[in-house]
Amino acid sequence: MDLKYTIRDLSLAGEGQRKIDWVKPRMQVLNSVRKQFEEQQPFKGKKVVICLHLEAKTAYLAQVIKAGGADVTVVASNPLSTQDDVVAALVQSGIGAHAWYNATDEEYNTHLQLALDTEPDFIIDDGGDLVSTLHTTRPELLQKVKGGAEETTTGVLRLHSMARDGVLKFPMIAVNDAQCKYLFDNRYGTGQSVWDGIMRTTNLVVAGKTAVIAGYGWCGKGVALRAKGLGARVIVCEVNPIKANEALMDGFEVMPMVEAAKHGDFFITVTGNTNIINKEHFVVMKPGAVMCNAGHFDVEVNVAQLKEIAVSERVARANIMEYVLADGRQLYVLAEGRLVNLAAGDGHPAEVMDMTFALQALSLEYVALNYETLSPEVYQVTTEIDERVAMIKLQSLGLSIDKLTKEQEAYLASWSTEE
Ligand SMILES: NC(=O)c1ccc[n+]([C@@H]2O[C@H](COP(=O)([O-])OP(=O)(O)OC[C@H]3O[C@@H](n4cnc5c(N)ncnc54)[C@H](O)[C@@H]3O)[C@@H](O)[C@H]2O)c1
Repeated sequence: MDLKYTIRDLSLAGEGQRKIDWVKPRMQVLNSVRKQFEEQQPFKGKKVVICLHLEAKTAYLAQVIKAGGADVTVVASNPLSTQDDVVAALVQSGIGAHAWYNATDEEYNTHLQLALDTEPDFIIDDGGDLVSTLHTTRPELLQKVKGGAEETTTGVLRLHSMARDGVLKFPMIAVNDAQCKYLFDNRYGTGQSVWDGIMRTTNLVVAGKTAVIAGYGWCGKGVALRAKGLGARVIVCEVNPIKANEALMDGFEVMPMVEAAKHGDFFITVTGNTNIINKEHFVVMKPGAVMCNAGHFDVEVNVAQLKEIAVSERVARANIMEYVLADGRQLYVLAEGRLVNLAAGDGHPAEVMDMTFALQALSLEYVALNYETLSPEVYQVTTEIDERVAMIKLQSLGLSIDKLTKEQEAYLASWSTEE
């Protein structure tokens, strides 16, 4: 293969490889998938483009897909989450890459186009930018793409919209919706890594402060749970009355953002929606309030409106922008309102991404083996793959569980009250 790459600096590969080597032994499910792929070569002779946050765990996934026989090219799903050393290590291991940290919008789009120039057979996407770019700007490639898998809630929503409008041209597996994904990655992964991102960026105490969390979906639940564990008073803002009741019974306060805005020391948006914190909220916030986002796109904290009402702004510290309002109050936004755990951290822990990326690898294998019988729709991860990932995870931890007896199986399957 004629390896193509557009990266910052190939000489950073050594440090990138060390990061990959650190996560490898901690991703035992993916290791077992790798062994299977090496033997069975499900992607032999096929081209795969992976559009994900380009850090060490993703790098290892790319190497596992390559071990399955594919020509792999990676591209970033977010301009601030790319780690230049990791991308360099990938190129050195024979994987094409088009990405660098802090790419402008134009560079980000150019990188997507360069990755698509490889004419992929299969894709992995995160948030839907690759699929959307393919459909809107490269229709000539749509015939060649046999299918793929999508990583996150926002991307799955976009895929459903495309399928509903009849424009989706190949099958996509909604990896996000597998139980081994959202129950662990969205909840515990986001819960831990968001606070890691906030704490390493601000170096501030959480205990005794008030954390306002907008969105009580799978991610919001994890962020709230860990805020409580760190000693914060937690307020949840929701639009869904059922989720609001859930938050209440989980022990959190519930109120609209316009009220919560007066109380928060930390604000975390994780709704997947747009314009969650706006001008009417900024103007009532306490001095020193810190805002950040963990939803997929940088549209949840309305930074444009904050800039409009600020009399000055400056970089207060790496990844922290300070905005001073007319009355002298300072408000802070982390990582430009992009995913704080990835743009100002290393993302989810390796042991959590182990399950997510095993699902990705096995879902892509499923598409590679079955694409001829699949329609251009959004498919769920099969129960077999979901349960297989969970079982290998337990085994890798040295744990085993009970098994239904024949008698119990029959009991659960019966409906008659007679013997
Ligand atoms: N940071 C990460 O690493 C990471 C990981 C996984 C998912 N995500 C992203 O996080 C976002 C949320 O994912 P999820 O799986 O929790 O989704 P989800 O659908 O389970 O939850 C989203 C919640 O936000 C609520 N919501 C919507 N609009 C709102 C508003 N205006 N105010 C308050 N609440 C509102 C919804 O009612 C819902 O309960 C998505 O964009 C997803 O792609 C990020």
